Amino acid sequence: MAKISNIFVCQSCGGVHAKWAGRCDSCGEWNTLVEEVTAQKPGKASKRKGRGPDFVDLGGTTPELPRMVTGIGEFDRVTGGGLVPGSALLVGGDPGIGKSTLLLQAMAKLADSGRKVAYISGEEATGQVRRRAVRLGLADSNVSLAAETNLGVILDGLLEQQPDVAVIDSIQTMWSDQLAAAPGTVAQVRACAQELTRYAKKRGCSLILVGHVTKDGQIAGPRVVEHMVDAVLYFEGDRAHHFRILRAHKNRFGPTDEIGVFEMGESGLSEVLNPSALFLDGRGDSASGAAVFAGLEGTRPVLTEIQALVAPAAFGTPRRAVVGWDSGRLAMVLAVLEARCGVSFGGKDVYLNVAGGLKINEPAADLAVAAALVSSAFDCPLPKDCVVFGEISLSGDVRPVGRADARLKEAAKLGFGRAIAPPPKERKTGANDSAALPIIAIKTLPDLIDRVEAGSENGIEAKTAFG
Ligand code: TYD
Ligand code: MG
Repeated sequence: MAKISNIFVCQSCGGVHAKWAGRCDSCGEWNTLVEEVTAQKPGKASKRKGRGPDFVDLGGTTPELPRMVTGIGEFDRVTGGGLVPGSALLVGGDPGIGKSTLLLQAMAKLADSGRKVAYISGEEATGQVRRRAVRLGLADSNVSLAAETNLGVILDGLLEQQPDVAVIDSIQTMWSDQLAAAPGTVAQVRACAQELTRYAKKRGCSLILVGHVTKDGQIAGPRVVEHMVDAVLYFEGDRAHHFRILRAHKNRFGPTDEIGVFEMGESGLSEVLNPSALFLDGRGDSASGAAVFAGLEGTRPVLTEIQALVAPAAFGTPRRAVVGWDSGRLAMVLAVLEARCGVSFGGKDVYLNVAGGLKINEPAADLAVAAALVSSAFDCPLPKDCVVFGEISLSGDVRPVGRADARLKEAAKLGFGRAIAPPPKERKTGANDSAALPIIAIKTLPDLIDRVEAGSENGIEAKTAFG
């Protein structure tokens, strides 16, 4: 008979404990241990003897299977050029952000190009998915749809159908009857993900798992699921805004840090081919405290507006509020401005906002943030035709950043005329170094302050000071 035992599994890291405790020893999280009943098969050790894996040479060749391209350019770029047969992909994101919509649209495109596609929904009934398909104008697509949560039934169905691509929406709703634990627990999620990826590898099917995200933005369930799959994509965005970003977090078949930008509309998600135009849309006339940052998202240049407001503090401790950037990094830029340039923010509230709801995590945004802060502090608008980028070091120096050419080209494309940036690196002789835009070279932070200050004293926008 199977031996039944009770174990306690941490829902955050998957650590197994013999006894309940308030805090998980492995990851230090509180109140995450949940009792699970496991049934072990009668204790017979594996009988297999003497057979090891088949070793091969590193130099051998394996035929590359052609990738499955959906035709949704933004999606294909993030996956690294299409779905790979025999691979597993995990798509995570907040509830209601549009994961199911995106995947249904991608699957319909694949079905239209002649692929065999299965969509298994554990969250919605077939009627709901059909209604969405009608809304998206995809009702005629040849996608096999099922509403099922039992892993065994799903695997049987997949073996029967042999689809090229299978979507499991979502992995947290799946359960295996081999385990006594409830659906959504670490044990179930791990077991289901393992079985499904094993099926995908064996049959050359491309598997897409949808994963829920916890409060702090990680894919719920054990980290092991992220290790099991070949690629992890996050679908993010702000509910208040229409655009959504698909971001590669890990990808064994392509570059990470690549993004795809979509816009959620009445009839589903549409691709945004020129994200900079979207993020700069509705930019007002020159007001102080705004700087356009020429950033990079993966391989793509993206322009965004950084807004800062420096206002007298109403209460004792001044506030520092940041949306879309790292608050630690803001503290650093403020400290450098105080210590190296003598601009004091002591009695002032500081607010920083990345317009459009984008999240920036590039150090290259330092100079743009500093420019926005100084512009607000001196109430002197920056020239409207200017983009800003550069990294600030603690000494107050402005350091060059990667791929300045791509940033300048994108800015030129969108009609900007100048860039406030660190001086370009010395090129080797013979290299063609005609920049796409003239650069107002800023070597140190005090250099930037002088120019903005000069503008504010003359009561004009910093145009002449920067001219
Ligand atoms: P959904 O794909 O169900 O999100 P997820 O699977 O990530 O939970 O997206 C649902 C949201 O998208 C819902 O709030 C409505 C909105 N939506 C549109 O705005 N337009 C559309 O055409 C569709 C299908 C959904
Ligand atoms: Mg969904």
